[in-house]
Amino acid sequence: MAAKVAVIYYSATGNVYKLAQAIEEGAKEAGAEVRLRKVHELAPEEAIKSNQGWYDHALMTEDVPEAQLDDLEWADAYIFGTPTRFGNVSAQLKQFIDTAGGLWFQGKLADKVVGGFTSASNANGGQESTLLSMYNVFMHWGSIIVPNGYTDQSIFAAGGNPYGTSSTGTDEGPTEEELAVARYQGRRIAEKAQALVASRVA
Ligand SMILES: Cc1cc2nc3c(=O)[nH]c(=O)nc-3n(C[C@H](O)[C@H](O)[C@H](O)COP(=O)(O)O)c2cc1C
Repeated sequence: MAAKVAVIYYSATGNVYKLAQAIEEGAKEAGAEVRLRKVHELAPEEAIKSNQGWYDHALMTEDVPEAQLDDLEWADAYIFGTPTRFGNVSAQLKQFIDTAGGLWFQGKLADKVVGGFTSASNANGGQESTLLSMYNVFMHWGSIIVPNGYTDQSIFAAGGNPYGTSSTGTDEGPTEEELAVARYQGRRIAEKAQALVASRVA
């Protein structure tokens, strides 16, 4: 049985979205069934329209389905992505996470394989603190956190972040090296989830 992986992200101007697509690609390469989902936007329309890049991206991703609590229940593994916002998780992703209290209470979020990814403008702009903030949640959920570590050469080439895929966001989007790590993370999480699923069947 294929592992089920939910890639759930927020992206205002597209950098995190591009990482999410590469993660989806990697997870599919590993044989997983993948749901790529954006979280609900919270910002007012005037704010979005005042930033051309934000507005263009919102229009471009109109057809990406919005994450639902059912996606969390469905998946064997989650990979969450967010832009770095003052060294932390975006309000939009956090808001979705905070709707998961009921599932958490029922024990339905435990024992899932989980990883995170992020993008920030600066090379040392808080990518690691953002991922660690996200991982605090996963510890409460009883997740099986699978960081990238230094388990693949691609990680060194992309700046060496062992906590999860990260990019230094520019107008050109993530670099090829960063996208390679994203694909690797997708494969890695899917493979670990697959091993877990197989162990439950056995
Ligand atoms: C409110 C706000 C806070 C931000 N905080 C940081 C930050 O702490 N460090 C940083 O390097 N970039 C910061 N940025 C920049 C974004 O993290 C960066 O542009 C990211 O690549 C955006 O991802 P997206 O294109 O997927 O929306 C911030 C941007 C906004 C709008």
